[in-house]
Amino acid sequence: MARNVKFDELGPVGLVSIDNPPVNAISHPVRLELIDAIERAEKNSSIKVLLIMSSGERFSAGADITEFDRPQDEPSLQQVQARIESSLIPVVAAIHGLALGGGLELAMACHYRLAHKGAKLGMPEITLGIIPGAGGTQRLPRLVGARAALNMILSGTPISAQEAKANGLVDELAEDNLRDAAVSFCERLVHEGLGPRPTCNRTVIDGLDEAEIASALRTQARALKGRTTQNLVIEAIQASGLPFSQGIAIETALAQKSLASRESLALRHVFFAERKSGRLSAASSVDAKPTQPPAIQRVVVIGAGTMGSGIAIAFADAGLEVLVNDNDPAALSRSGEFIRLTYASSVRRSRITQSVADERIRRIRNVDTLAEVADADLVIEAVFEDPELKKDVLSKLDSALPAQRLIATNTSTLSVTELARATAHPERILGLHFFVPAHASKLLEIVRTDHTSSESLSTAFRVARVLKKSAVVSRDAFGFIGNRMMLDGYFREAEQLLLEGATPSQVDTALENFGFAMGPQRVSDLGGNDVGTKARVQLFKRESRPDPYFAIADRLTEMGRLGQKTGRGFYCYEDGSHEAASDPEVIELIEKLAADRSIRRREINDQEIVERCILSLINVGAMVLEEGIAARASDIDVVWTSGYGFPRHLGGPMFYADTLGLSHVLQRIRHYHEKLGHYWRPTPTIERLASAGSSFERWDNTAGSQ
Ligand code: 3HC
Ligand code: NAI
Repeated sequence: MARNVKFDELGPVGLVSIDNPPVNAISHPVRLELIDAIERAEKNSSIKVLLIMSSGERFSAGADITEFDRPQDEPSLQQVQARIESSLIPVVAAIHGLALGGGLELAMACHYRLAHKGAKLGMPEITLGIIPGAGGTQRLPRLVGARAALNMILSGTPISAQEAKANGLVDELAEDNLRDAAVSFCERLVHEGLGPRPTCNRTVIDGLDEAEIASALRTQARALKGRTTQNLVIEAIQASGLPFSQGIAIETALAQKSLASRESLALRHVFFAERKSGRLSAASSVDAKPTQPPAIQRVVVIGAGTMGSGIAIAFADAGLEVLVNDNDPAALSRSGEFIRLTYASSVRRSRITQSVADERIRRIRNVDTLAEVADADLVIEAVFEDPELKKDVLSKLDSALPAQRLIATNTSTLSVTELARATAHPERILGLHFFVPAHASKLLEIVRTDHTSSESLSTAFRVARVLKKSAVVSRDAFGFIGNRMMLDGYFREAEQLLLEGATPSQVDTALENFGFAMGPQRVSDLGGNDVGTKARVQLFKRESRPDPYFAIADRLTEMGRLGQKTGRGFYCYEDGSHEAASDPEVIELIEKLAADRSIRRREINDQEIVERCILSLINVGAMVLEEGIAARASDIDVVWTSGYGFPRHLGGPMFYADTLGLSHVLQRIRHYHEKLGHYWRPTPTIERLASAGSSFERWDNTAGSQ
């Protein structure tokens, strides 16, 4: 009995409905049942046209990604498409919600396409490091032209139904009820005697010249930095000028090559890691996807500074009502101005319309007293990083709000456990650690204490989902997951390399060439060296670290060289420019700090810079796992790819360690341990995994992550 595809007769229309929750992926059972449905329809002489639709929220999210790691069972999606294209009766696809990747490729193999006016259609394969492998690079150019196809496939971003209608991807739009519109469309085909119209028989109306390719690559340069999939996409689209059978053979070979690439393994790892991180282990009842819709409608933010203002925008963007409280009227007015400017910039960049911006601004209101927050569903405090002040605010909130409401702190350095002690309900206190800028940054660390209840965690997961952020749970510890690894691993090693003889621009450029969006010293100058210094002062109250831990950055702070905002930091910035110029004064300072510590300076090559920064990141990442601060190695990868600029196509530091091989990783860490001393001590987890020939991935899949 069919389970994933239903077949109904509506007079002359054979209605095939894909029903494969949650996203209607075109899995093997779906493909089998689609072939059955087509054959069944063809055998029934009263059926004159076939209509393919889907149930649920979206037409289809594409091929089933979970099948990519094993040989594909027949029928393949290509075989289903060939069956559709050669069908004796016309086949129509009616798209609602989303049609992505293989879902859109299935629709493109149909003879006609309708879309609901709210639908979106896209080819996101490149975000998984693969090229469309079910005719997408051959049929899309035949429908919309090679140039438009190249842009759509390289960007990976879906287009609206209106754009799809304008460029020829769909034939008609349905204003209201898609099913009614699609059935009448089918009846019209029958009435007018319009038969099959295979896309493969069309020819591509344009070609790709070098200038167009270069321009498309330039547009996506940031997203495609360090990537290779785009070269395969271009090759495949160029083959769309050949006869279909030749083009499809080239696409198949290139798709297999892309699927086997490291880039694709890494990107697929991050895709699943992001979905897993938004929930606790399988054994837990706490889940990011509750059956009930999120109950959070009204959010209160206490403190209207940098973080509070960004958090308010994040919630307003998600459609929630936001009340902002600050005891300094000047801060409230600065915040209001910041919010207006942020939305004005989004309108200027055509990201949203003026009316959407106005609506979002209206959702954010100021409130004068904490008494007004009593009916909030969630409160987030983002006041100064002062433990006594935060305790006072949390204790007042605890008294003002019903006991089951979540109260979160945005602290980045203080102990959430300590802060929670100031309340009578520590079970509803947790950290929601947003990153700068809070409205745009993808990462949200959820900091749990030993007292945080599963209900509170569950609500926090919902909050992340509402905000469309990647949630990762961290135990309450020094720097949580991300800052601990940044400070004890990556940035510390970058400073050590400076003391030993590298220059800031050499370190930054080497790591940018590795794939980081920005090198560590440029990041420090952007965020403000004083911000790091202040954070370390607070963190040292939890645990201290021996000299020369951030000796250079802290000295720069003392000298007022705070970074871009003062025009000088690790670099010089002329007249408010963001262009970082090397500064001999900084080199002199570093030389002096090195001499004070009897560090002998020498030439250091880029390979050593990258190896030491990345291995130290991996080693501290393993400590974070070992200490139970992160539950999974893949959670660490989500933190670093979504919040700290680690190249996504390398999968995150722990995945990257697996690709290097843990015995190699261990051998190199031991080497630096001998050379540089205690802080390079290999983490026992790495020693254990390396000696067992294992990996972080296996650690995640076994008891380690439970
Ligand atoms: N295959 C298998 N599982 C998929 C899937 C897919 N294509 N897309 C999503 N899922 C799974 C997710 O892993 C998740 O599983 P889980 O509950 O066990 O964690 C579940 O479906 C729900 O997904 P989300 O949590 O992401 O749900 P959202 O509602 O937030 O987002 C979505 C929905 C926008 C469709 C998002 O899931 C998405 O972007 N999916 C991937 C789309 C994609 O990249 N498609 C191309 C696939 S490759 C392809 O088609 C190759 C072809 O050219 C041959
Ligand atoms: P900020 O100094 O920009 O803003 C703090 C705001 O809190 C000020 O407007 C102040 O008037 C207000 N405030 C102080 N006492 C108050 C009270 N009793 N009631 C209401 N409002 C009060 O600080 P910022 O940078 O926004 O940081 C806020 C929190 O976010 C801190 O805990 C910080 O550690 C954390 N954080 C900061 C990050 C950053 O890079 N700025 C990153 C992640 C977290």
